[in-house]
Amino acid sequence: MDFEFKALGAGGLAAVEGDALLLVVGGEELPRSLDKPLAALLADALAQGDFEFKTGRCLYVHRPPGLAVKRLAVVAAADASAKAFKAAVAAGMGALKAMGVASLAIARSGFDAALDESHARALVAAVADAVYVYRHTKPSAPAAPKLARVALVAARKDAAALGRGLQRGQAIAAGVALARECGNRPGNHATPSHLASEAKKLGKQFGLKVQVHDRKEIEKLGMGSFLAVAQGSDEPPRFIVMRYDGAAASKAPIVLVGKGITFDSGGISLKPGAEMDEMKFDMGGAASVLGTMRAIAELKPKVNVVGLIVTCENMPSGRALKPGDVIRSLSGQTIEVLNTDAEGRLILCDALTYAERLKPAAVVDIATLTGACVVALGHHHSGLFSADDKLAEQLLAASRDALDPAWRMPLDEEYDEGLKSNFADMANIGGRAGGAITAAMFLKRFTAKYPWAHLDIAGTAWKSGAAKGATGRPVPLLTQFVLSRAG
Ligand code: BES
Ligand code: MN
Ligand code: ZN
Repeated sequence: MDFEFKALGAGGLAAVEGDALLLVVGGEELPRSLDKPLAALLADALAQGDFEFKTGRCLYVHRPPGLAVKRLAVVAAADASAKAFKAAVAAGMGALKAMGVASLAIARSGFDAALDESHARALVAAVADAVYVYRHTKPSAPAAPKLARVALVAARKDAAALGRGLQRGQAIAAGVALARECGNRPGNHATPSHLASEAKKLGKQFGLKVQVHDRKEIEKLGMGSFLAVAQGSDEPPRFIVMRYDGAAASKAPIVLVGKGITFDSGGISLKPGAEMDEMKFDMGGAASVLGTMRAIAELKPKVNVVGLIVTCENMPSGRALKPGDVIRSLSGQTIEVLNTDAEGRLILCDALTYAERLKPAAVVDIATLTGACVVALGHHHSGLFSADDKLAEQLLAASRDALDPAWRMPLDEEYDEGLKSNFADMANIGGRAGGAITAAMFLKRFTAKYPWAHLDIAGTAWKSGAAKGATGRPVPLLTQFVLSRAG
């Protein structure tokens, strides 16, 4: 699918060509700037009660009189923001995606403020989201919409900003789609080796340097905590290192670390059966690193980025890690495993120690880490943890800009109390209270050497219920963050 900017010509919106026009309107009344055929059509729809200036209301018109396009969808937006624009485009796509639309024009009318880069990105996100169909293990799924070309029609003076937004939006959307596809594939398909081959493929396609370490090499590296989680499964673990070199080698990299548990049964501390299938999504952090590396490799910002993916299964077996076992992490610190279901932190801690050798400017780990984070924040905000105010603010700014919400959580020393152990340097769980925070406190013990932040995406990486599926979050947030660090 191609996105392009189109300058609004002298003929106005009535002269715009294509299979369909999606017009986002705002305000409380008919925009005065609207050209005649559209104004007449909308005035009539309003008089007939077929349309209202209420958020999400959508009017569909086939062969609209006086317009060059074959179809028209008009959607009301709540306000002039990129967020409202995205919601309106999504609502319009709901009406248009089932139709034979190959070329679509999108425009906005009725607001004083001009569209900016973030609106263009939001548009691409909404369209790409509407046309994604999972079919890898469901060939009978409905065919993807045949939409091939999307034009954002706006004033010529905004061409540069909107063109840039469309370009960034497309790279981000491709990263989101990759993350969704990896997440949606079941545990018997999206194995650690599969994630490694996806990483290699990206390397070939975009010139990233990709190293894949197998169990032997992981042993040699000394990642004892990661290996302890992996030992219960017959599926071999992988440690993946991906490098994007966009700046001088002397420039300290941003390091992204993804949790890649391709299936989390809980291990010997087995999870209850209900909804256990959703633990195939426990590699959402890893998927978001793959997606972000893809977006970055396409946009080529002047910054160095290293993606680290720790990936294995968490399974019960005769060889599996047991409650009470004490393991030795790459950092040398020992860990008493009180619950084998708190495995994410056990694999991440070794990757966080590995990150030290990269002399990073900042490290951000991304993990579907705790059910407690879902209880705290629900499915809208990802949990952001960082002791570094500047880094936290940069990530929050990127989150707002990318319409990929995150909320900062506390990391006070008082929360460390629960991790005390009589048999090791720390336990891998604290009490039930503040579970997302104690998990972050555990990780913090491995991050003393660099600015660090942690994103708990347990509530945001996938949706349950009828819309069950991976979201591709937080690829937009991470990509925007990396772009902002490139200056
Ligand atoms: N992958 C889960 C976290 C999770 C649970 C994400 C439910 C999304 C929905 C993680 O490995 C886990 O099992 N965490 C435990 C930690 C507990 C044993 C301290 C949890 O949250 O229950
Ligand atoms: Mn678990
Ligand atoms: Zn897990």
